[in-house]
Amino acid sequence: MDTFRRAMQAPWKLMAVALFLTFFNQCATFSDDVTYACSSDFVHLPFCNRNSSVADRVYDLLSRLSLEEKIEQLVSSAANISRLGIPSYYWWSEALHGLSDDGPGVRFGGEIPGVTVFPQVILSAASFNRSLWNLIAQAVSTEARAMYNLGQAGLTYWSPNINIFRDPRWGRGQETPGEDPFLSSEYAVAYVSGLQGQDYNEDSKHLIESKGETQNALKVAACCKHFTAYDLEAWGGYTRYTFNALVTPQDLGDTYHPPFKSCVQDAQAKCVMCSYNRLNGLPTCADGQLLSQLVRQQWGLEGYITSDCDAVAVVYEYIGFAASPEDAVAMCLNAGMDLNCGTYVSRHAAAAIQSGSLNVSTIERALFNLFSLRMQLGLFDGDPKFQPFGKLGSDSVCSDSHRKLAFEAAKQGLVLLKNDAKNLPFSTDDIKKIAVIGPNANASADILLGNYAGPPCDFVTPLEALQEYAIVTYARGCVDVECVSDSLIDAAIEVAAVADAVIIIVGLDKSQEREDHDRTILVLPGVQEKLVSETSSAANGSVVLVILSGGPVDVTFARDNSKIGSIIWAGYPGEAGGKAIAELIFGGFSPGGKLPMTWYPETFTQVPMTDMNMRPNISSGYPGRTHRFYTGDTVFKFGHGLSYMDVSETFAFAPSEIILPICMDLSGEKILMMDPSPSQCHVPDEGMENDVKNRVEFNVTVRLRISGSMGGSYTVLLFSRPSIQYMNIPQQQLVGFKRVDMEPQSTVDVGFVVNPYKHMTVATEYGNMVLHLGPYVLAINDQVHHTVILKFA
Ligand SMILES: *[C@@H]1O[C@H](CO)[C@@H](O)[C@H](O)[C@H]1NC(C)=O
Ligand SMILES: *[C@@H]1O[C@H](CO)[C@@H](O)[C@H](O)[C@H]1NC(C)=O
Ligand SMILES: *[C@@H]1O[C@H](CO)[C@@H](O)[C@H](O)[C@H]1NC(C)=O
Ligand SMILES: *[C@@H]1O[C@H](CO)[C@@H](O)[C@H](O)[C@H]1NC(C)=O
Ligand SMILES: *[C@@H]1O[C@H](CO)[C@@H](O)[C@H](O)[C@H]1NC(C)=O
Ligand SMILES: *[C@@H]1O[C@H](CO)[C@@H](O)[C@H](O)[C@H]1NC(C)=O
Ligand SMILES: *[C@@H]1O[C@H](CO)[C@@H](O)[C@H](O)[C@H]1NC(C)=O
Ligand SMILES: *[C@@H]1O[C@H](CO)[C@@H](O)[C@H](O)[C@H]1NC(C)=O
Repeated sequence: MDTFRRAMQAPWKLMAVALFLTFFNQCATFSDDVTYACSSDFVHLPFCNRNSSVADRVYDLLSRLSLEEKIEQLVSSAANISRLGIPSYYWWSEALHGLSDDGPGVRFGGEIPGVTVFPQVILSAASFNRSLWNLIAQAVSTEARAMYNLGQAGLTYWSPNINIFRDPRWGRGQETPGEDPFLSSEYAVAYVSGLQGQDYNEDSKHLIESKGETQNALKVAACCKHFTAYDLEAWGGYTRYTFNALVTPQDLGDTYHPPFKSCVQDAQAKCVMCSYNRLNGLPTCADGQLLSQLVRQQWGLEGYITSDCDAVAVVYEYIGFAASPEDAVAMCLNAGMDLNCGTYVSRHAAAAIQSGSLNVSTIERALFNLFSLRMQLGLFDGDPKFQPFGKLGSDSVCSDSHRKLAFEAAKQGLVLLKNDAKNLPFSTDDIKKIAVIGPNANASADILLGNYAGPPCDFVTPLEALQEYAIVTYARGCVDVECVSDSLIDAAIEVAAVADAVIIIVGLDKSQEREDHDRTILVLPGVQEKLVSETSSAANGSVVLVILSGGPVDVTFARDNSKIGSIIWAGYPGEAGGKAIAELIFGGFSPGGKLPMTWYPETFTQVPMTDMNMRPNISSGYPGRTHRFYTGDTVFKFGHGLSYMDVSETFAFAPSEIILPICMDLSGEKILMMDPSPSQCHVPDEGMENDVKNRVEFNVTVRLRISGSMGGSYTVLLFSRPSIQYMNIPQQQLVGFKRVDMEPQSTVDVGFVVNPYKHMTVATEYGNMVLHLGPYVLAINDQVHHTVILKFA
């Protein structure tokens, strides 16, 4: 979401700034008690009584509000209700990879000028390390609580972004954990539980009972966004505000929706955000089938549904889907939306009620969801100092452990894409003098952090970090990432020719990919390719190419150029990313990251970005999308990533046959479970369903043998590939991933638990999940595989 600027409305940020000024002035002139609800003057009111249930407290509060006051609570800048001692509340805060001031809820300055900025999500995803994602989110929520205690932040965060990275051109692909629905689901569970303060156990992958002083206290509320099928900013004349995404029930069932289902059901996120785009004609925020039936009833959301910023206004102003502003407001609230990011609902809800299209009871439903959450977060429990996280203060922000984690995260994410003849790692004994070249070599914080970042604790550019290892000569090569002129290339060639090694750091930045902006090309911008080719051919020593980017880049020319020994993808690596890149090049650790998205060649740009189909279409020549369906050539595949270690992988154990206690209904659209003995099919209840499902889990053990003298961490991805290609089923699915630590000269067994019902099902054309029987190939890579047959009892 961002500043959706409209002529008729004050631009968001300006409006937000005006509100803050008011807010801070009051802090300065009033006593403390106006900054939090239920301060001593108001604590006697029943809604402040912590002994009562949340529901009773909310009903009491609602009974005291006038209709006008109620309406003012339905928007992201909820008004104060001073007569009840309730301050205003900013719902909109962002924390994708550290707190950010993209939303007005977070305000830097004073005691907290900056926060820990972790790598942009796509790079953390590349670590394939669930514990890391969870620890990052724990650090982020600790910093959020600390800022809240100091009056500089709210407790409702509109993160994570778990839309599938469907198209490589998408400007916000960088904010997501990539293209695979299983990976995104796992990321959502790890990240949301870290934000919300639920304990998380990577192995059982369940949220476990909380212990200790913060027992049951919600740390901050996470939000799964953007629901749904949102992954186009501005491309070919289309914009996200007006785009009508045409998606089949089949693709919704096994690609677009699984991450959201996990985010709500498994992670118990407290919020879902409806998106700007339409889905099959209906604006998502006005779609009751999606919001009320699917998210709220079927998935069981306990929390609130917010619109993306000004997505309610879009329903009338941009697409004319509603007949009037008040109709747009009524449609969205009636569909199940509870909160409007923006002001549209507060401006038009009264008219909607008057016209009869909106009932007060609907507003009360929304307010019940909103105030229940504010109460669960402790926003009506008086002084934050005396609440479960009340001791967190400025020393909890940018703490040593958080900074170390940011460094660790960058190191774990880096992906080694090419390393001919063990070009890397460099040794400081051999490499004394390096040429560091390229528009991203001395990348500013703005580039290193990516979208949605706050001011970092501190940061080091790759150039500065490399200076710790060798004598550096630096040539920018291009003025900036756009690289329109080749006038600086000659100077770069000169430094390349006389160094022991050349490190060329190129790629993208927010001028190429960002919110509201998609790419139209996949190759490097401007004359970057010329810079890379000419400096590497002039190089006397070995050459390393480092790419900073969120989305994939077609670097086929470099992959196939024998002068370029190594290629590293560094995403947008966050505040400590420069150091991580330098340490990787000089052998401080072995890379363990793997690509969380397919790297497509430039020819993919012939595919319209607006085509939402995941599945290929042979008659139209449409190649399909992502590793699960894409049939064309790749530059690098999903899951690609090399190591410095010499590791061999084999299957130590995997069953050859799995007997399933299931049968299908006649139309074949639903999986029906069967009791072990009776022969009749019936639809089981949840409990029994889980019981049956768990009994068919099977174990797979992959054995890793490491022969060299270097240890480190290593990532294993397990895929399942059906041997029989039924129509429209994925060519492969990711069914497991694990990152493990290895000692030099050791053997490690990595265990996976595969559940056919969870990991191997696919959607029918109606969107129901089914499991196809027959032989499957379990594969670690193209060389290492094992056949397992799924059959009926
Ligand atoms: C809440 O319960 C505690 C313990 O039972 C009691 O001491 C306290 O007075 C109660 N507070 C209110 C406002 O009823
Ligand atoms: C409450 O909001 C009103 C309207 O924005 C403002 O005039 C007033 O000063 C605020 N009062 C407090 C105590 O924040
Ligand atoms: C408003 O409430 C009445 C009475 O329950 C109901 O018949 C009507 O359908 C509701 N209208 C809307 C727009 O929800
Ligand atoms: C590199 O960037 C840093 C921080 O942005 C800046 O202070 C420094 O002058 C730059 N170095 C060179 C050699 O341009
Ligand atoms: C090129 O590399 C060789 C071997 O490493 C070295 O002897 C020679 O001095 C280098 N030439 C220049 C111009 O640096
Ligand atoms: C596949 O392409 C053909 C030819 O363009 C078209 O008629 C057909 O509807 C497409 N199928 C699907 C499932 O989109
Ligand atoms: C799978 O392995 C675990 C130990 O990792 C073991 O407890 C469990 O019984 C095994 N399950 C099966 C079906 O072999
Ligand atoms: C996963 O991340 C955590 C947190 O940084 C780290 O302690 C652990 O070693 C990582 N696991 C592997 C195998 O790299």
